[in-house]
Amino acid sequence: MTYVLSSHTHTTDLAGEFATELGWWQILQRIRTLRQRYVTEPILRDRLEELPHQLAHPTVRPWGAIAWGDVHADQLIGIDCETFCATLLGTINTEAPIRGYTQSSRQYLERLYPAMARYVGGRVDESNKLVAIGLWEREEKRHTPALAKLYTILSGEKPDIVPHAARPYQPADDPRENLYRHGLHRVATEYGATCLYLWMMAYSTGALQAVLAELLIDEINHMTKFWGFGMWAYPDSSLVKIGQTLSRAMVRKLRDRTSQGSLLHTLRRMMDELAWERWSATQRLTLLYTFDQVIKPICAWNGTLTPTYLDALFGKPDEIGNAT
Ligand SMILES: [Fe+2]
Ligand SMILES: [Fe+2]
Repeated sequence: MTYVLSSHTHTTDLAGEFATELGWWQILQRIRTLRQRYVTEPILRDRLEELPHQLAHPTVRPWGAIAWGDVHADQLIGIDCETFCATLLGTINTEAPIRGYTQSSRQYLERLYPAMARYVGGRVDESNKLVAIGLWEREEKRHTPALAKLYTILSGEKPDIVPHAARPYQPADDPRENLYRHGLHRVATEYGATCLYLWMMAYSTGALQAVLAELLIDEINHMTKFWGFGMWAYPDSSLVKIGQTLSRAMVRKLRDRTSQGSLLHTLRRMMDELAWERWSATQRLTLLYTFDQVIKPICAWNGTLTPTYLDALFGKPDEIGNAT
């Protein structure tokens, strides 16, 4: 919807109303509007409460119809096409190889929580051959092709995809603690992707923004399910424990290069991938603002995840491990 008010053109999209000349405060307003639309307590509650059904009857969330023919570079606002494409390329390289990610997660979960292991990584036969693909993988594997298509439309070139090798499963003496650390990495990655796609939506409009919305909804969905399931499986988890585990993960690389890797290293690599160094100060600040905006409703929702509520959803913590 576009209309002219005084000398400025005003448009309304998923991030609210905006003038063609965007100031940084308008970007912040757009981030808040997107946050209020996509990351609210009722949405988070709904996404988690759907998980028991998805464990039993996995069904891919359908995407809305995407008007690929309507995607144009002039739908970028407040960011130049080159910077946006460099960031897109970073997201493509971070999303891939999804098969590697889902299979390592499946191995961490397999013994302790087989139903969740199937949700993320599907099922393998006796010879370790994948015979069914997990729902997480089926939903996530749409992301790289969609991002690559956006890149091609915007830049006129095919992206040069250089995926990372997914960090393989590392067995440990304490599989529960091992899964906890791995799970935190996964939740952090889904949270990072959520913030990044929301941020990219603040800088885009029209059909381009609508594509990013589908990715955003997927990431919020997965982040919420992993977070909530983690709070159920680890009822002794608290923000203090999460903080301790994360800060240990931050420095682990310095001590032990063969472990699951350092979170700081992961984040730094992600920022390098995203071409952070070519972002303007405003663009950097608005991403930090997005991180802050998104974590607030998550913390409020997290406060409602009492053991009674979670046990009603998933059973007593030692029951689901044997669920079919
Ligand atoms: Fe993704
Ligand atoms: Fe994801």
